[in-house]
Amino acid sequence: MKIVGINGSPRKGKNTSYLVEKALEGARAMGAETEMIDLVDFRIEHCNGCNHCLTHDECPIDDGMNSVVSLLLDADGIIIGTPVYHLNVSGLLKDFMDRSRYLKMVEFKMKNKIGGAIAVAGLRNGGQELALNALYNYFLGLGMIVVGPATDGIRTTMGGIGTLYKEIDQENGRIYYQRSSDDILAVDSCFALGKRVVEVAGAIFS
Ligand SMILES: Cc1cc2nc3c(=O)[nH]c(=O)nc-3n(C[C@H](O)[C@H](O)[C@H](O)COP(=O)(O)O)c2cc1C
Repeated sequence: MKIVGINGSPRKGKNTSYLVEKALEGARAMGAETEMIDLVDFRIEHCNGCNHCLTHDECPIDDGMNSVVSLLLDADGIIIGTPVYHLNVSGLLKDFMDRSRYLKMVEFKMKNKIGGAIAVAGLRNGGQELALNALYNYFLGLGMIVVGPATDGIRTTMGGIGTLYKEIDQENGRIYYQRSSDDILAVDSCFALGKRVVEVAGAIFS
């Protein structure tokens, strides 16, 4: 079984990347083979709206998108992580989503693959759920099966949710931030998300 993680942050090795890696660690704990993709490593141009993909299962723009897609087609499950930008996914990730339209227009090439998502925001209520919803709608549009961490009543959220805000000092109003690696709920739920993706993929593909 192969699970691919996608870091949708333009920053490699930072907060989003950490949590996607944590999810892949969960997937490996369940026996899966994993691969991490930093989208920023690939040249992915904007969709130009040519609509070629309405009738062809390919995109005429020849760039790094093809390499990413071939990794996805090989995977049984994908876990996408995004930093929250203006209550939504990053522009880098949105370009990838738009350019992948041909994965569903002629034939559902991603059908029944499992999708998990992680959103990391600077603020406590910074739009994590909204970004997750954007990713879930994307997965559903591709005919994929959406899963969340499904841990326990306290820790279960609708996906992997990271928060960099830590606390405000009441005395001086100073705001303190943490790394996603210090957000224990996020770390736990992302690890559980990776396990859950493998669990459901195993049930579907066995
Ligand atoms: C253009 C931009 C927009 C952002 N918008 C939000 C936002 O809407 N809500 C929020 O809580 N944080 C916002 N942030 C903070 C990012 O979510 C935060 O820097 C990100 O999670 C860090 O992830 P990374 O370390 O993986 O890049 C924004 C940051 C940038 C650069």
